[in-house]
Amino acid sequence: MATPIDVVIMAAGKGTRMKSSLPKVLHRLGGKALLAHVIECAASVSARKAVVITGHGAETVEAACHGFTQAAASPDSKLDLKFARQEPQLGTGHAVQQALPLLADDGVTLVLSGDVPLTQPATLEALIAQCDGQRLALLTLTMADPTGYGRIVRAGTEASAQVRAIVEHKDASAAQREIREIYSGIMAVPTRLLRAWLARLDNKNAQGEYYLTDIVKFAVADGVAVVAHQITDAAQVAGVNSPVQLAELERVHQSRGAVALMEQGVRLADPARLDVRGALSCGQDVEIDVNCVFEGTVTLGNGVRIGANCVIANCTIAAGAVIHPFTHIDGEKLGVEVGEGALIGPFARLRPGAKLGAEVHIGNFVEVKNATLAKGAKANHLAYLGDATVGERVNYGAGSITANYDGANKHRTVIEADVHIGSNCVLVAPVTIGAGGTVGGGSTITKSTPAGALSVARGKQVSLTNWSRPVKGSKG
Ligand code: UD1
Ligand code: MG
Repeated sequence: MATPIDVVIMAAGKGTRMKSSLPKVLHRLGGKALLAHVIECAASVSARKAVVITGHGAETVEAACHGFTQAAASPDSKLDLKFARQEPQLGTGHAVQQALPLLADDGVTLVLSGDVPLTQPATLEALIAQCDGQRLALLTLTMADPTGYGRIVRAGTEASAQVRAIVEHKDASAAQREIREIYSGIMAVPTRLLRAWLARLDNKNAQGEYYLTDIVKFAVADGVAVVAHQITDAAQVAGVNSPVQLAELERVHQSRGAVALMEQGVRLADPARLDVRGALSCGQDVEIDVNCVFEGTVTLGNGVRIGANCVIANCTIAAGAVIHPFTHIDGEKLGVEVGEGALIGPFARLRPGAKLGAEVHIGNFVEVKNATLAKGAKANHLAYLGDATVGERVNYGAGSITANYDGANKHRTVIEADVHIGSNCVLVAPVTIGAGGTVGGGSTITKSTPAGALSVARGKQVSLTNWSRPVKGSKG
């Protein structure tokens, strides 16, 4: 049996430089809170437990975490999420001390930060392997400019020399500040050793804080091996302290996601002009033009083409469908389905509960909400279909509207197969238009119509022949 992993996630800090009322770890990257990325990472290394250390905005952070575990955790993840409050915040060592009552001695503690969102599970697994249930394993990185970071002090100048200590930048001598290998903020440590070492911390240092990093010298003094697992990918350990850094990591995250899509065969017009804020899965031969945003869960079938400037959320688009430019699709909770070979847009809007069958056409300035359109139905211009059931091959004219709301309740409109609705009609729900019927342009339909009939409900046209247009200046 491998040693159980318990994760401690430090998230008590204020995040002053974000200049925001929202706690720092709840700011979003790729559409998801920074802390949610870290919790998912903990789940993906099969951690037994995660203890989030909260302080500033503790209640808000804790409430948000319950949301993430419900929304994000996979059903097979057994991660037990707990919280420990750290008030006041007396340093990273003091932060981890708050978690100790929740940690069992048979485990390895993996220390993460709630504001470091891009660490990859494989990196943590390698670190955990280095710890091997008995060593103190530090994740380290060599930086061109290590200013501000804790330096890895080794017994000699060779890269493989024994690690002796971590010295914080503010406490470092001029010579130590020359060291470019830094501590990333991530370590794996046997919990029983961590417990003993944390009890020995003091705050006699430049910042008057209890430094977690001081445990390295205790490990050395106790003859416990200290290993540095070095990585080269700085983004994996980069923290977010400011909106600028958040935007930088967002770009890294997006470009990695874009590369992964292209490696699967997705053709992106420009990988720098794609934003995925959720999960996008694509079949073969999918093409995505520039400036598209995908949110929530979006699935694109084989051969789907997405035009420029589309925003698409919580939607399934079947094979061969084409979404023309400037289309907005948001399925929210009910979802949106677009059938095989459907043509949507440009400038179309599909709202929650829009279920479009194969070869449906939705054209410009057409809004569809909570409506089912069967195969081959078309609404090509300036129309609204809300709370409607539309049969096969229906043609729904320009400017026509389902009046679905009576001011208090929503009602359904049923348009049976092969109906032709003329332009500028109002279908006042609840109402059914019988199969094969035609509704004359400009009609306001308040009663259901028989199959096959032509229904017209508008003022009769009159033409006055003995009428002359008024002339300017002549009164009466
Ligand atoms: C820490 C390390 C430093 C390392 C750097 C990497 C220590 C003493 N130093 O420095 O060696 O190079 O990270 O980024 O650990 N936090 C709390 N409670 C506290 C203090 C901090 O929860 O009392 C949280 C912060 O919110 C943050 C994390 O711990 O998420 C790290 O704290 P921070 O102050 O950023 O650490 P550094 O001083 O940068
Ligand atoms: Mg600090």
